[in-house]
Amino acid sequence: MWGDVDMKNETLLSVAKALLESQPNEIAKLANASAFLYESFDRINWVGFYLYDGNQLTVGPFQGKVACAEIPLGKGVCGEAAQKRMTMVVKDVHNHPNHIACDENSRSEVVVPIYIHDKLYGVLDVDSPVVDRFDPETVEFFEQFVNLFIKTIDI
Ligand code: SME
Repeated sequence: MWGDVDMKNETLLSVAKALLESQPNEIAKLANASAFLYESFDRINWVGFYLYDGNQLTVGPFQGKVACAEIPLGKGVCGEAAQKRMTMVVKDVHNHPNHIACDENSRSEVVVPIYIHDKLYGVLDVDSPVVDRFDPETVEFFEQFVNLFIKTIDI
């Protein structure tokens, strides 16, 4: 495992860039992206994408336990981040009433919304079994990763 302590954001991002640019198919890109993120960070129990279908968020490629398949906008941390168009960092999901518990082991969470040409595409969701797992540097990495992903999508 590379781990965010051992490998700086910059190095991880250059690997991510190569990975995202090497594959034009969106599902393949998202599937490998979720695997890449899952193996690049320790203390993570779920990482993946929810995709917007014009009405709600539907689960896309991910790594982790079976998750809830559909999330309405505004619901859960995912729906909230998508609606507010801002990254949400929840230090302790037990203290966040608008949290949907898919895996009872999850204790902290980051959700980065993905907007392409001002249109909601989906969200990147990362869960950890550790309270307050996500420091600002790690959150920034996920945001940079999403920006890279957006740049490799042509719609
Ligand atoms: N916890 C999320 C739901 C998705 S699972 O974590 C995979 C939320 O509150 O939106």
